Amino acid sequence: MSLLKLTHLKVHFPTQDGIVKAVNTIDLDIEENGKVGLIGETGCGKTVLGLSIMRLLQPDTRIKGENVYKGRDLLKLSEEEMRKIRGKEIAMILQNPTTSLNPVLKVGDQIAEAIRLHQGLDKRAAKEKVVEMLAAVKIPSPEKRANEYPHEFSGGMRERVMIAMALACNPTLIIADEPTTGLDITIKMQIVRLMKEVTKQRSMLFITHDLDAAAEICDNIAVMYAGELVEYAKTEAIFKNPRHPYTQGFLNSLPNRGLKPIRGMSPSLIGIPNGCRFYPRCDHAEAACKIQHPEMVELGNGHFVRCLQYDRS
Ligand SMILES: Nc1ncnc2c1ncn2[C@@H]1O[C@H](COP(=O)(O)OP(=O)(O)OP(=O)(O)O)[C@@H](O)[C@H]1O
Ligand SMILES: [Mg+2]
Repeated sequence: MSLLKLTHLKVHFPTQDGIVKAVNTIDLDIEENGKVGLIGETGCGKTVLGLSIMRLLQPDTRIKGENVYKGRDLLKLSEEEMRKIRGKEIAMILQNPTTSLNPVLKVGDQIAEAIRLHQGLDKRAAKEKVVEMLAAVKIPSPEKRANEYPHEFSGGMRERVMIAMALACNPTLIIADEPTTGLDITIKMQIVRLMKEVTKQRSMLFITHDLDAAAEICDNIAVMYAGELVEYAKTEAIFKNPRHPYTQGFLNSLPNRGLKPIRGMSPSLIGIPNGCRFYPRCDHAEAACKIQHPEMVELGNGHFVRCLQYDRS
């Protein structure tokens, strides 16, 4: 059953240089207990998509479409109703733990604040819960560490703190934004294992550049390019039978698959040209690709692709 359903979601930022169309007509479904990986190169709109689900973007942001969680369109809720959803129903692990944690507050106090806000616990009960949460993310000596400041934590430990904070109010859905970026391989694998463990009974949108991590955790993968989804399929199908030329290029650029970068650069999100957005970089491009913007088509078995090779409408 669908837990979160995005329908034609658009997120645009008015700026001095023009409108940045960061997210364009995204349709995405996250099922109860489902784990969806969201991958794509830097600047394609992954974080903006995550933040828009939580409604954490600046007030002048133009958001259109539907963002239905448990049957309610979150875009229609008041700010007060939305505050009850954040943390408690949907929690986000923000992209950069170094800047997301307050450097002058003890780690335990930061987690306690999140807990007290939602659960109305008194100071002592919140403190106990903090220690419980730090232990749950396997931080050794949690009582002692709760009294330390963020700079006393290593990168991997800081990521664990971010995960503890997200779990503090027992959310149903977690949006994890690049929780393994910048960590070395051993620590990365530990975080992946932890994420897998703590999301056993939850749903997750797992935003990452790291396909190996996504493969380990997610049952479905959504591939994003220049603000839109270009492919969506079961994880195995994305790896074994990628259909979109961008997905194929993305896989070929990975170190264990040839390290062959995709030529050229993704387009600016201001004044996006008509036609296929990947056209200038695509080895399979034909004349029609420059003019016609392909629709997402289903190839069967839950495999969707946005490419004129398959869109014969
Ligand atoms: N508040 C904003 N105002 C204007 N443009 C923005 C704003 N926030 C993000 N953008 C732009 O939206 C686009 C998408 O940004 P986003 O941070 O979502 O990319 P990303 O896919 O998360 O990249 P990365 O992999 O590097 O984290 C970028 O071009 C970015 O510059
Ligand atoms: Mg990002």
